[in-house]
Amino acid sequence: MAARLATVRSSARRQFAPEQAASPWWRDAVVYQVYLRSFADGNGDGIGDLAGLRARLPYLNWLGVDALWINPHYPSGGADGGYDISDYRAVDPEYGDVSDLEALVEDARALGLRVLLDVVPNHTSDQHPWFQAALADPDSPEAARYHFAPASEEPPNNWRSLFGGPAWSRTPDGRWYLHLFAPEQPDLNWRDPAVAEDFERTLRFWLDRGVSGFRVDVAYGLFKDADLRDNPGAYSPTLFGHGPEQAMTWNQPEVHDVWRRWRSVCDEYPDTMLVGEVCLADPEEIALYSRPDELHQSFSFRLLKSGWSAESFADGVRSALDAFGKVGAPVSWVLGNHDKDRQVTRFGGGEVGDARARAAALLTLSLPGSAYIYAGDELGLPQASVPDEAKKDPIFFRSGGERSGRDGCRVPMPWNATPGVGFSPRGSARPWLPIPAEWRRYAVSRQTRDDSSMLHLYRRALAVRAEHPALGSGEATVSRRGDVLTVRSTAEGRSVRCVVNMGEHTVLVRTAGTVLLSSAPQVSHTSGRSLALPANTAVWIAED
Ligand code: NOJ
Ligand code: CA
Repeated sequence: MAARLATVRSSARRQFAPEQAASPWWRDAVVYQVYLRSFADGNGDGIGDLAGLRARLPYLNWLGVDALWINPHYPSGGADGGYDISDYRAVDPEYGDVSDLEALVEDARALGLRVLLDVVPNHTSDQHPWFQAALADPDSPEAARYHFAPASEEPPNNWRSLFGGPAWSRTPDGRWYLHLFAPEQPDLNWRDPAVAEDFERTLRFWLDRGVSGFRVDVAYGLFKDADLRDNPGAYSPTLFGHGPEQAMTWNQPEVHDVWRRWRSVCDEYPDTMLVGEVCLADPEEIALYSRPDELHQSFSFRLLKSGWSAESFADGVRSALDAFGKVGAPVSWVLGNHDKDRQVTRFGGGEVGDARARAAALLTLSLPGSAYIYAGDELGLPQASVPDEAKKDPIFFRSGGERSGRDGCRVPMPWNATPGVGFSPRGSARPWLPIPAEWRRYAVSRQTRDDSSMLHLYRRALAVRAEHPALGSGEATVSRRGDVLTVRSTAEGRSVRCVVNMGEHTVLVRTAGTVLLSSAPQVSHTSGRSLALPANTAVWIAED
């Protein structure tokens, strides 16, 4: 199928030409997040890999994105979907090798696509040679690169793992070590200079191979309170992010110096960028990570974590625009990722969830800044129900099954309508997570043939966005009337409105102009100045 997709003409998209670009490519880029293990299996073992991804690059080109971010590709202990890395300067043999990655970067570049890698500096795998050396000898230099505490009855403090249970586990010789995630992910001690040095080597290793930058895992972590004081309160996964209740484990002031250092490394490589995962509750604190000499971007997760409510969306958009505006950085909008339930399901499931996910996509893609699309969201995949015995996510196991975990948003992509949905070449391989039989209906091959599909909506939206500077690189104002949210963006003297009806009834919207795109087929101007906008629908209108 991939071969039949026409290559998008390059004129619409910003190409690799740093010296000519009026503003850096990443400020308004649309980045496609590839969950490598689930994207495309090249060798038929049921696990997505670099060869599979490489073969599907024409699809990403056809879709019209600017860059891809690949979830961790490194050798790993396998305890947390690759976020427990045992060798930062290698490729897990399950995914290929370094030459496969180089070939991928080269092919992507030929199509005008940039490649971002994931880097995980807060913790390593317990299989990492440093941690193994630290276990073998408490006085080794490697032991100083982690947080160990002497053997005692009780752990050193009240810190909790984000995956459930205490953040301290015992070594075989009775010491405690810190892991803010799974026990297989020991936290690094960033006060040891050897840690910083090694990460700079890692950045250069991949930048030298032509990647365009990194998504930085847990960028609000790394440093912890030096005196290991108790956290004042408990973390709740229902909050927008961490705040003062978790003041001892996150957002320590020293971490900003690391990002200044990393920024200066990137500055040696033209056109590269860093985007940080900063899960803090306060948007102003998040934006501080993207001051001009720090990370180029930090994710804005408010829309990802907001329910379907105009008030909540308006607040999420406004607060992010205000906060990032103050530091002069673009907002990096996220509607879905590998850590949250799929949007269609989050927004209510079924037809309603589908309609809302379409509308939310148009809203997000109209906003100034860059947008991150999680693989499969362009197909409208719902959250899959994964049987407990097939689950892999440590959140499920560490919460004793209380939290269902993230496997349901990580199920492999359906490419065609055959029984194996075309994820593996011969279709017979057992995929690493079971794919629901009914997912054939979401297959790329089906959606490319259906003009009204979610996939075509995304593709059209990206094409329209590329033609209208107001979308993605405009100045925006946000207003709300009841359940109707309007974002008006202006660039080069031309304005586009994105109007979203988040209520339950059709509303008459008084606005003139040309309908550029709507998330549902039935929207058009009923008279010159008004438009009937059904529930759960968004529209883009170019003002005359
Ligand atoms: C954030 C990543 O997105 C998530 O998948 C991972 O489990 C944690 N960081 C720990 O690395
Ligand atoms: Ca494979």
